[in-house]
Amino acid sequence: MKVAIYPGSFDPITNGHLEILKRALNIFDRIIVLVAYNQGKQARFSVSERVNMIKEAITDDRVSTDSFDGLTVEYAKRHQASHLIRGLRAVTDFEYEFTLSSANDFIDSGIDTVFLMSKAEKSFINSSTIIQLAENGVDVSSLVPPSVLKRLKK
Ligand code: COA
Repeated sequence: MKVAIYPGSFDPITNGHLEILKRALNIFDRIIVLVAYNQGKQARFSVSERVNMIKEAITDDRVSTDSFDGLTVEYAKRHQASHLIRGLRAVTDFEYEFTLSSANDFIDSGIDTVFLMSKAEKSFINSSTIIQLAENGVDVSSLVPPSVLKRLKK
């Protein structure tokens, strides 16, 4: 059984993330969506809120959701995962993803990262842009799952 981890801060999860996840399920038997800790980011939603939004958005029983505040690669090893999944949107993602995957490879070269390219129409989405749009009254219902939309409306 091929198990992969899809790590991110998911603050909040977007339809862009969900699209990557859907395509990754064509490659892996089981995927754990992992709310991981990004030291460089100030969280908007609490970890439990982020986990709940993901759980409500995903009904596929091949997917589970968890959180972890240590190294993603350590979590992957503990859960017998062979790969990490990351989405690539634009060329601007490359440098960051290169550093991240190289750091992960330095920690454990046995866990590889698989990159999936985001669909062009979703490539402008990121969580902070969506929040900014929502805060200014723009309809973001096509960009996030209902579980996120209802919290953004609050
Ligand atoms: N569609 C839409 N948006 C996407 C996307 C996609 N397919 N993929 C990424 N994004 C957006 C996110 O919404 C987010 O936007 P924001 O910055 O406005 O919030 C941004 O791109 C970053 O993406 P995300 O997937 O949330 O990743 P991240 O950079 O926050 O995650 C971790 C990095 C958490 C996975 C990484 O820091 C980590 O593994 N941390 C644990 C500690 C560790 O092991 N560190 C590595 C070794 S030092």
